[in-house]
Amino acid sequence: MTPVTTISLDSWTPSCTPEDQERATRALEAGGVLFMPSLVFALHEDERDFLSPDTAGEGKNVSFDGARNRLSGSSADAASQRRLQAMLARYAASSRSLLGSLLPHYAPTLQQARTSFRPVEISGRDISWRKDDTRLHVDSFPSSPTGGDRILRVFSNVNPNGQSRAWRLGESFEAVSRRFLPQIRGPLPGANQVLKAVGVTKRLRSDYDHFMLGLHDRMKADLGYQAKADQSDVGFPPGSSWIVYTDQVSHAAMGGQHAFEQTFHLPVAGMLDPAQAPLGILERLVGRTLV
Ligand code: SIN
Ligand code: FE
Repeated sequence: MTPVTTISLDSWTPSCTPEDQERATRALEAGGVLFMPSLVFALHEDERDFLSPDTAGEGKNVSFDGARNRLSGSSADAASQRRLQAMLARYAASSRSLLGSLLPHYAPTLQQARTSFRPVEISGRDISWRKDDTRLHVDSFPSSPTGGDRILRVFSNVNPNGQSRAWRLGESFEAVSRRFLPQIRGPLPGANQVLKAVGVTKRLRSDYDHFMLGLHDRMKADLGYQAKADQSDVGFPPGSSWIVYTDQVSHAAMGGQHAFEQTFHLPVAGMLDPAQAPLGILERLVGRTLV
């Protein structure tokens, strides 16, 4: 089952020894979660009023695209949007700085993607099974193929009422793949090209992305699997942060409100041990190259 490695750092600009760095990198790449119980993302006094589902309007989160310096998902007035954007930009900078200190091996190839603020309670949301993150899954997004690049995410719980973010962690990526791959056929010839041409995908969906999406969907659709698969409950309390490869680790978010999340992408070649990537595991099991 998914190991959780506790790291005692309490700063977004920690000084880490080479041993700490290697231990953290290897634990992550092996499909573990790095849990930092005292790594607090502190809000400014005037940011506390953002701790309300209203901040996300009709949606479930507000997101910030640092590359374009653009905020989306908020319908607040212009002044509030500027303060919101500053808060998300601070999370983006903090999480980037953390990875620079803790996972320096990734620095040359790590790409920072979207930052999100999640002020809506997870449990009790009315959504389709495919979007239901309370079901165990590995992350794979229909419109955003990664072409094999990794999805590495940093989370922080900023709940002001003592409420933990409750996750379930499932079995290893290899176990998930062995279970579900036999049910997933390869894409029809030309299908990936059609998805790109009609704008379903932002870039060409590779066969890797096809199989990842297949795993994501089969896992979520199988209620027997959800109930019976090897799994454990883990609670991330307010004032804590955690890092996880969500394309690899089987996870489900069961409850919780008010969290930040920062996504990074990493080419497989940037890993310390590229053979541990989902790409390598899927290629071995399918018996051919997938990108
Ligand atoms: C997810 O990636 O499934 C959701 C995680 C969360 O918001 O805690
Ligand atoms: Fe997820």
